[in-house]
Amino acid sequence: MTDRYAVFGHPIAHSKSPLIHAAFARQTGQDMTYEAILAPKDGFATSVAAFVAAGGRGANVTVPFKEEAFRLATRLAPRAERAGAVNTLVFDGGILGDNTDGAGLVADLTRNLNCSLAGRRVLLLGAGGAARGVVEPLLDQQPAALVIANRTVSRAHELADLFGRGVTASGFDETGGPFDVVINATAASLAGELPPLSPAIFTTDTLAYDMMYGRDTPFLAFARGHGAATADGLGMLVEQAAEAFYVWRGVRPDTAAVIASLRAA
Ligand code: ATR
Repeated sequence: MTDRYAVFGHPIAHSKSPLIHAAFARQTGQDMTYEAILAPKDGFATSVAAFVAAGGRGANVTVPFKEEAFRLATRLAPRAERAGAVNTLVFDGGILGDNTDGAGLVADLTRNLNCSLAGRRVLLLGAGGAARGVVEPLLDQQPAALVIANRTVSRAHELADLFGRGVTASGFDETGGPFDVVINATAASLAGELPPLSPAIFTTDTLAYDMMYGRDTPFLAFARGHGAATADGLGMLVEQAAEAFYVWRGVRPDTAAVIASLRAA
């Protein structure tokens, strides 16, 4: 029987995940379907239960349900526990919650963009769910420094304190600099806004990375204007999907071809 997977979100119509997983399944010869399910804002758990009852084997979870998915899981992968959020569910009698976002970011940076993190100075902008999800995988790469900067400085401190291990917190105007890698995990790009950053964080050797994808952002334009190389979050999107696919199917798809075809589209 064909195995069923899905992504749950609200909104969900524009999700690229069905396309990405269909490409992975074709490429690796896996017998599976993957659909997008719009869950009501107050009906995530009910939607998931209905999907499980209908034979669903696993799911991805996107905005705004990642924290609720964390609470819904009956078991958590360690990386999901530290992220405080779940983007991947496995239905195996219970519900295993995992989080592949950080692994996706690190894979995109280190493999696709050839940007190693070991021994380098990394600045992470934002202290919400998106930032928290990537801290541990970034630390695992053993950067020389990881600074978390946020508009609300107290939230940056709270996040840094969760991880210890030499993570420091600051406001946007006191980050110091420069940095080898600057990652924008704020929601500013969604609103078409630029966090009030100092140009001193960039050099011509900096990679500026925006987790958002699909359009040029004020952050990337600002970074480019100060000589940095730039990348959007499309590669992270495909890599987090590949990591979820691996969790479900035990097979690693080739991501480069899928990233290239999404870019071309
Ligand atoms: P997400 O899950 O996307 O991280 P969130 O938990 O609401 O969503 O966090 C949003 C993040 O984007 C926060 O770090 C927020 O800063 P505050 O903690 O100060 O609110 C940041 N953010 C949102 N809009 C921003 C803007 N216009 N400029 C800078 N930071 C912004």
